[in-house]
Amino acid sequence: MARISSRLKEVTMEKIPDITSDILDKLRKLNINSVYQLAVQSPSELGLGISDVLDVELAAKLIGNARKILTENEVLSREFSTADDLLVRRNNISRYKTGSSNFDTFLNGGFETQSITEIAGEFGSGKSQICHTLCTAAIELMEDDLDTCDSGLIHRPPGSIIFIDTENSFRANRVHQIAEQKNLDPEDILKRIFHCNVYSSEQLEVVIDDLPKFIEQYNAKLVIIDSIISLHRAEFSGRGTLAERQQRLGKMLNKLRRYADIYDIAVVITNQVVSYADGSGFDYMKAAGGNIVAHGSTYRIFLRRYGKNRVATMEDSPSQPYQRAKFTIAENGIRDANSYKTDESDSAW
Ligand code: GTP
Ligand code: MG
Repeated sequence: MARISSRLKEVTMEKIPDITSDILDKLRKLNINSVYQLAVQSPSELGLGISDVLDVELAAKLIGNARKILTENEVLSREFSTADDLLVRRNNISRYKTGSSNFDTFLNGGFETQSITEIAGEFGSGKSQICHTLCTAAIELMEDDLDTCDSGLIHRPPGSIIFIDTENSFRANRVHQIAEQKNLDPEDILKRIFHCNVYSSEQLEVVIDDLPKFIEQYNAKLVIIDSIISLHRAEFSGRGTLAERQQRLGKMLNKLRRYADIYDIAVVITNQVVSYADGSGFDYMKAAGGNIVAHGSTYRIFLRRYGKNRVATMEDSPSQPYQRAKFTIAENGIRDANSYKTDESDSAW
């Protein structure tokens, strides 16, 4: 069903105040071709690109003007908004479901747009399976967008998913199987997933830098990165490189947060675990990436295996209590565990 998009509006770069043809040329050379792509930049990085000497002030002014246009077009909220305006904006966010009602209820209805949701857990805990299941269920909820621009109505391509794969974990046949089991159209779903294999931390950073272009080109509503940390973790292994690794992870997460907000997309990242001893003689697991990743994501979900089932714990959320959900992995993707119990004393917890 087509609808008029309230978010992705067509605004031309020429309408940005203070923009000159010389600056426009420089921005195009930097591959910045839309108001959105300018609005997601950071002044310090852009300042180097548009001027021979670092001109953060000019960059900040241009980015500010681009954001102002998006605010005027009701894509972004005003610098100071009343809380009731924010509530209206929140009520308009989309949620992408997995199809497991336990898991979707646990997420307050699904993976949210304008947020980064992190799924952490040990190997085999179900991170990639959640991503595959989400690929099938989310597409169904993505409507076609109609939009208006100066020359009339424009029809965007149907909503899609960008899957950035750093562990070679994506399997098209698994998506096909899940879709078929759910009586969805596998061919349509596979055509709307844009997969990108990434082999090094530098490549991942470049792909994330270039994401705005692809989000617009493919009309992506959901970006999945499986996983955000594996390449940086493998390449920056010594203590001496930790600070640089954390700084680079922080930059990526910062960009993803801006993209989620400005493009109204859901960003889902997976994370690995590290084990630590608390002095009691037992080893525990926690999400890798330290405070940078913990602060960078909006929601943090931790997965644990329990026999054939998996238990997801909401470890951090701005709007939900600490809670858990039990699910299992089956031919049709993740689904509710048969013996779901809410009793906290249930030994499965
Ligand atoms: P790492 O990427 O290694 O860190 O693990 P992960 O958390 O991504 O694990 P993943 O989501 O790949 O889960 C792997 C588990 O899913 C396997 O151990 C299987 O138990 C289960 N699984 C994978 N495919 C299928 C399937 O087609 N059917 C069923 N029933 N289970 C599956
Ligand atoms: Mg995986």
